[in-house]
Amino acid sequence: MSKAKIAVLVSGGGTNLQALIDAEKSGIIKSGEIVLVISNKEGAYALERARNAGIETAVVLKKNYETAFGFEEAIKALLTEKEIDIIVLAGFMSILSESFTSAYPEKIINVHPSLIPSFCGAGFYGLRVHEAALSYGVKVTGATVHFVNEIPDGGRIIMQKAVEIEEGDTPEILQKRVMEQAEWKILPLSVEKVCASIKEEK
Ligand code: GAR
Repeated sequence: MSKAKIAVLVSGGGTNLQALIDAEKSGIIKSGEIVLVISNKEGAYALERARNAGIETAVVLKKNYETAFGFEEAIKALLTEKEIDIIVLAGFMSILSESFTSAYPEKIINVHPSLIPSFCGAGFYGLRVHEAALSYGVKVTGATVHFVNEIPDGGRIIMQKAVEIEEGDTPEILQKRVMEQAEWKILPLSVEKVCASIKEEK
């Protein structure tokens, strides 16, 4: 049986993409292969990580399209061309419309840096999530991997991992701990889980 073809959508540093690349190398991801990385930001370091791993890259910029629909159709065209089975949002900072998400039911997965349903939804991304957790005063936070549907951060949960908040945490310190202890672990495991079930269908 052939492996599921994975596309990873990124916007920034790409540490989660790196965790996926490393997991494929080490065999944690064995049912899928990353065949395409798409960035909506020029010069995102994630693109460098992809190139270093010999993975094909593409940049699709919103400003080059008149509408959000045109931007998403351009992404869809790349996914179709590469016969992608699973789309991983790894720090992709653009909310996808219902016309996009409904085209790939339970085939798009996202990593979010909190325990959903806390600190999630529109406006909660990157450091802002950790700022909100610290200002609320929660003692435990974490990360969630979930399927993507039309509700921002609202799709079915695949995996979660809790992370303790420590005395003296800043949003930056907490972000790093959540990545190291939760995101970089549960994202590869979730991708393998979904790829394994797709492979069975293939
Ligand atoms: C990660 O913490 C990811 O969970 C978060 O952005 C960061 C991207 O880092 N995503 C969101 O906030 C999505 N709502 P990376 O580019 O190093 O993987």
